[in-house]
Amino acid sequence: LKRDERFARLTDDHVSFFQKAIGDAAVIANLSGSGEGDLEVFNKDWMNKYRGHAQLVIKPGSAEEMSAVLRYCNEHHLAVVPQGGNTGLVGGSIPVFDEIVVSTSRMNKIRSFDEVSGILVVDAGVVLEAADQFLAEKNHIFPLDLGAKGSCQIGGNVSTNAGGLRLLRYGSLHGNVLGIEAVLPDGTIVDDLSTLRKNNTGYDLKQLFIGGEGTIGIITGVSIICPRRPPAVNVAFFGLESYELAQRAFREAKSQLSEILSAFELMDGTSQDIVHAVTQRKRPLESKYPFYCLIETSGSNAEHDSAKLETFLEHVMSQEIVSDGVLAQDETQAKELWKWREGVPECLGHWGGVYKYDVSIPLPELYQLVEDTRARLHEAKLIGDTDEYPALNVVGYGHMGDANLHLNVAVRRYDKAIEKALEPFVYEWIQKRKGSISAEHGLGLAKKAFIGYSKSETMIRLMKDIKRLYDPNGIMNPYKYI
Ligand code: FAD
Ligand code: MLT
Ligand code: ZN
Repeated sequence: LKRDERFARLTDDHVSFFQKAIGDAAVIANLSGSGEGDLEVFNKDWMNKYRGHAQLVIKPGSAEEMSAVLRYCNEHHLAVVPQGGNTGLVGGSIPVFDEIVVSTSRMNKIRSFDEVSGILVVDAGVVLEAADQFLAEKNHIFPLDLGAKGSCQIGGNVSTNAGGLRLLRYGSLHGNVLGIEAVLPDGTIVDDLSTLRKNNTGYDLKQLFIGGEGTIGIITGVSIICPRRPPAVNVAFFGLESYELAQRAFREAKSQLSEILSAFELMDGTSQDIVHAVTQRKRPLESKYPFYCLIETSGSNAEHDSAKLETFLEHVMSQEIVSDGVLAQDETQAKELWKWREGVPECLGHWGGVYKYDVSIPLPELYQLVEDTRARLHEAKLIGDTDEYPALNVVGYGHMGDANLHLNVAVRRYDKAIEKALEPFVYEWIQKRKGSISAEHGLGLAKKAFIGYSKSETMIRLMKDIKRLYDPNGIMNPYKYI
């Protein structure tokens, strides 16, 4: 990848403009490039895999400031990368060369909340957990939850169309987001912050920003419908002898727990061994199993839900679908069980790095990808217990309820030979099953070269047409998937 010389190089004059437009405190510059200084956190990603060379970070405080910033960048051909909480897992929020990082972190106000409809309007930079805590006080819940909630921002969530742990129950952001305020590269403020549930008045343009990964504009505000916070939440954790049995457990959960089922997550034995090795926490079950499932129910009547869950548990145990299980007795225990699932991504990175594949595959074959990848790395002699092997483990976990697998390869070091063994192997495998090479993390830089495995030529051409229309100078998040 080469720097696109159509983009201008940053000068002191540019920096002065931004300082005047939005204030000195909202501009962090390091034009000399002498060390990365304060800019380092903006130039590296959560996995420590991507590294940018931005010399400038700008933090507009409002849509109007964002408009002034982007208009100037567009006129002066300065490339930009939108950045929220920088928790993305495909390298989308990191500059590739010297693009300017435009951060939403100063835009962190809750704008309004309607307690009757449950509609929340926020600035894009509100941290997901802060929004959920605000909603908890109003007996509502944010319809998205994920392990990075303490850092990721709602603008980033919407821009990646994040899925998370309860999509099964609350659905995708494409349905829950009711309106968006965004700024286009030419400074236009897209004023589509509707708070209406139903609104069939022409093209639904906000959908282009949901999952757009910052390639056509920057989201500055979001309106979203939030459900009532369910008063009764139960969490159960099971050990199972095979993936086949996990599928049967899922079928039973859907039929017996039906409307109260709010999460159905899968973790393989290796993923739980890794969490155990890193955290040294006591395992929830006495014996070890090749597969585990975490089931959550959320409902309005604790007695009714407990009765349903107990019947379900008796059934799956008596039918020998699950081998052992534990039911959280209180909120603390429920949180403790969730750590065995939510803690997987962080623990996986413990030894050096991770190759991540976030994919959708029809359920019957979902786990086969993990087994085939494991076999392939063994055959290539790239995986083993000692330091001479670059790879340590092949792990599968994810949102089984949404047929979304996270195939991860934990490595001691990032290594070209591993990459060559995995790509395009994984993508070809998925294409053959008509799956998706990105279920919920997006494409960013990581999957730029592989979009053709999930989208046809025609679809890619139509996407490029839209990109050109909104961003004719190509300044928005260049070098990424489009
Ligand atoms: P960033 O990482 O800052 O940005 C992500 C992308 O969006 C970039 O391309 C960036 O340019 C663009 N962007 C950011 N803000 C804006 C904006 N305001 N306007 C336009 N473009 C913007 N993802 C899931 O889907 N499900 C999960 O369960 C999940 N769990 C995770 C757990 C952990 C521990 C971690 C580290 C990540 C997880 N992720 C998950 C991935 C990540 O958290 C999500 O993609 C999240 O939504 C990113 O939000 P962010 O604010 O950090 O965005
Ligand atoms: C998760 O479900 O834990 C996230 O998507 C992060 C990951 O894939 O590791
Ligand atoms: Zn996930």
